[in-house]
Amino acid sequence: MQTMTNPLYNKHVISISDLTRSDMELVVATAQRLKAEPDTRLLKDKLVASCFFEASTRTRLSFETAVQRLGGNIIGFADGGNTSAKKGETLADSIKIIGSYSDAVVMRHPKEGAARLASEFSRVPVINGGDGSNQHPTQTLLDLFSIHETQGRLDGLNVAFVGDLKYGRTVHSLAQALSLFNCRFFFISPEALAMPDYLCEELEEKGIQFSVHETMEEVMPELDILYMTRVQKERFDETEYKHMAAKFVLELATLEGAKPTMKILHPLPRVDEIDVAVDKTPHAYYFQQAENGVYARQALLALVLNETV
Ligand code: CP
Repeated sequence: MQTMTNPLYNKHVISISDLTRSDMELVVATAQRLKAEPDTRLLKDKLVASCFFEASTRTRLSFETAVQRLGGNIIGFADGGNTSAKKGETLADSIKIIGSYSDAVVMRHPKEGAARLASEFSRVPVINGGDGSNQHPTQTLLDLFSIHETQGRLDGLNVAFVGDLKYGRTVHSLAQALSLFNCRFFFISPEALAMPDYLCEELEEKGIQFSVHETMEEVMPELDILYMTRVQKERFDETEYKHMAAKFVLELATLEGAKPTMKILHPLPRVDEIDVAVDKTPHAYYFQQAENGVYARQALLALVLNETV
C-alpha cells in the first residue's frame, strides 16, 4: 500500500492564506489525536530553531514545549538583542545560518513581512510566530482547534469578534480562516478600531454574512463563540478610553442570555477587558485555549517535518 505525503510536509507557514480548508482540518484532526494519544517520537532526531526577536510568553513556550514533548531538540533565543542582529547582521544572513543548523525555524519578529522574507532565504521550513500586526497563523490554528474542541465542528457557527479589530492580527487571520467554513460574523469595536475595509470587502466577495454592532449584549443570545481582544489604552485619550471601556469589557452581567454552549476565547495576554469573575463561568475557555496551543503546534511541526504522520 502506498502512503500519501501530507500536504504540509516541508512547507513554510507564513500566512493563514497559505493554508487550504483541508490543511486546517488536517492540523485540527492531528492536534486532536496528539492531545488524546501523546507521541514522544514524532520529532526524534529533529532540531527546531526558536527565534524570537520580539516578546512572547505563549507562542514561544508552547512551541518549545511541543518540540520537547514530541522528542525533538530545540535551539534559539528569546531576545533578538542578544544576537548578531545587534551588530547589524541582516535577517537574510541570520536565517541562512540558522537554517543550516536546524530542520525548521519558528520565528517572531516586530516587522510585517519579516517571516516571508526569512522564508526566501531559508533552506528549511519557516513557521511564522507573528510578524508585527500582519499575521499569526499558528494562533489561528490553535483557535480553530479550540473552536472544534468546544463546538464539535467549525462549519456554520456564529462568531463575534470584540475589541481591536483594526490592528489585531489574530482577528484578521481567524476571520479569514472561518470564512472557509461559512461562519457568520458579528464585529463589535470602537469605530476607530473597526475591521479593515479590505477584509470586509473580501468577506462580501465570498458571500460571508457579517454585521457591525455597538455592544456585546445585543448579539449575545446568538453566539457560539465570543472572541475577545484587548483594546489598547494608548490609542485613546483617558476620558475617551474610560467612556468606551465599559462597552468593551466583558463582565458577568454581559453574559446574560448566552447559550449554555457559548465559549469565550481570547488570544491573551488579557489586561482588563475580561473581568476575572468571568473566569469561573462555564463560558470561559481562554486558558484551555492557550494550553491547546501546545497540541496545535505539535500537530503543525509533526506535519511540516514528517512526510507521513
Ligand atoms: N497569543 C500570543 O501570541 O501570546 P504571546 O504574545 O504571549 O506569544
